[in-house]
Amino acid sequence: MVPEMITTGSVEGHSLCEVTTALLLLLLLILLISSWRKTQSSHIPGPRFLAGLGPFLSYGRFIWTGIGTASNYYNNKYGSTVRIWINGEETIIFSRSSAVYHVLRSPHYTSRFGSKKGLECIGMEGRGIIFNSNIPLWKKSRTYFSKALSGPSLQRTVGICVSSTAKHLDHLQDMTSDPSGHVDALNLLRAIVVDISNRLFLRVPLDGQLIYTLCFKRLAWKSAAFHYFSEKELLLKIHNYFETWQTVLIQPDLFFKIGWLYNKHKKAAQELQDAMESLLEMKRNIINKAEKLDDDLDFATELIFAQNHGELSADNVRQCVLEMVIAAPDTLSISLFFMLMLLKQNPEVELQLVEEMSAVLDETAVENMDYEKLKVMERFINESMRFHPVVDFTMRKAMEDDEVEGMKIKKGTNIILNTGLMHKTEFFPKPREFSLTNFDSPVPNRFFQPFGSGPRSCVGKHIAMVMMKAILVTLLSRYTVCPRQGCTVSSIRQTNNLSQQPVEDEHSLSMRFIPRSTQPNHRQL
Ligand code: HEM
Ligand SMILES: *[C@@H]1O[C@H](CO)[C@@H](O)[C@H](O)[C@H]1NC(C)=O
Ligand SMILES: *[C@@H]1O[C@H](CO)[C@@H](O)[C@H](O)[C@H]1NC(C)=O
Repeated sequence: MVPEMITTGSVEGHSLCEVTTALLLLLLLILLISSWRKTQSSHIPGPRFLAGLGPFLSYGRFIWTGIGTASNYYNNKYGSTVRIWINGEETIIFSRSSAVYHVLRSPHYTSRFGSKKGLECIGMEGRGIIFNSNIPLWKKSRTYFSKALSGPSLQRTVGICVSSTAKHLDHLQDMTSDPSGHVDALNLLRAIVVDISNRLFLRVPLDGQLIYTLCFKRLAWKSAAFHYFSEKELLLKIHNYFETWQTVLIQPDLFFKIGWLYNKHKKAAQELQDAMESLLEMKRNIINKAEKLDDDLDFATELIFAQNHGELSADNVRQCVLEMVIAAPDTLSISLFFMLMLLKQNPEVELQLVEEMSAVLDETAVENMDYEKLKVMERFINESMRFHPVVDFTMRKAMEDDEVEGMKIKKGTNIILNTGLMHKTEFFPKPREFSLTNFDSPVPNRFFQPFGSGPRSCVGKHIAMVMMKAILVTLLSRYTVCPRQGCTVSSIRQTNNLSQQPVEDEHSLSMRFIPRSTQPNHRQL
């Protein structure tokens, strides 16, 4: 039928049209066969290859809606194991605990995937720890992180968290955005967390630390290259770097050739790297001027020594420090923000928390508090990370051929572990509700993985728990917060590209901070 319709126009064109039509039909046949063969070769559920249309559409979905959102979409549509394509590469998304646990614990998945050019842009390609897939170098870097995030550091953490939180609460007016007295809670939490990270791992003066600044003023004066960053400036650079990270992570190579798309991201990434270089330069000077160094050296000092001994390159040292400084502001502060919102949505939980805190605090000062005793607090934190996580998936790459639950995984396959969905579909008695009863009885490890586990798990998982507890106790013993009317974790606008984040273009994220002393009966809870 089709050829006839085409050929009715002219007699001369007749044979030409016939040839074209035959060619088109042949092409269609080849495409159909190849797509049929592709779907036959894979037994894993997922969209069909359809002559390349499948990979194109699934990749598009990942780029446009974000990795987290797209992963949820495909798991909901095809089940707990799905095969899709990212940038033409086969990618499997797992959301069932048995498969997730296998991948987490296996030594074959200690690598991650991401666009090479994208990772180069943010300095993570073969450097640092988070997306470093040069395994020997990643291992070496990871030992420095592990050391800094456990042991003596962990003990110092509580005191620093308490004093930093208190200091920022004393200057709450700096974070107050409007006449009605609403506080920009997310940025307050970021400021607290970046201050803590600096005081734990880097220990260079950011402005506001006047005593430090005075001490080193002479030093700064001599070397005009010094540039002091305010906490605000640094936070902005961290924020922009994170935006870039989210944007470039899985982009095709073409993206990096289009100046008007790429240049602003390139600049944002470079700015934080330059800031880190300045901070490290300051740190080197501090070390050189110091008469005697502490017995337990901080993270940055250890790295600088490693560089001096030729163990690590300067680029790697800079990237490690950068990643240590951004890790908490990008994850922990947003987790805490969600927790404050959830608390207001669940007043009975706040009441329980406050009662537990006053019982434990009765005996001692906040700094010396026995954090092991805060059981309600721990259940609250766990339930918050289960119900509304910031990090709800993790990206890996298979380094060997493997088999997961009878399914063949080829070397080089990209893997996404959708732990966020796993936490809402398995084991918990009230999976779709926020309820502390979900943690009434001990939860077997494999069903709850907010930090991952195994060789490539979150290296900060222990310190993160300590930090969250110390910050929450300090904050909640002084204030109760009140988000704007109608603002809940499910009503605020959010994106889920690399992690789940609130959209920050409105006032909807600010909260009132109401001192507790003015409402002794917690009537305002
Ligand atoms: C609520 C807070 C946090 C959450 C929910 C979180 C979650 C995670 C998750 C899920 C991963 C990937 C694990 C995997 O692939 O199995 C990860 C990796 C990592 N996290 Fe965290 N994290 C948090 C806080 C922190 C903090 C405070 C630090 C450091 C100060 C940190 C440092 C890291 C690093 C360096 C990695 C990469 C590890 C590697 O690839 O070897 N995280 N985190
Ligand atoms: C993240 O995903 C959303 C879609 O939910 C998109 O509009 C936004 O631009 C993305 N942001 C980045 C930085 O990629
Ligand atoms: C909270 O979760 C952690 C795992 O991240 C677990 O080790 C701990 O036992 C949990 N606490 C409670 C009270 O369930």
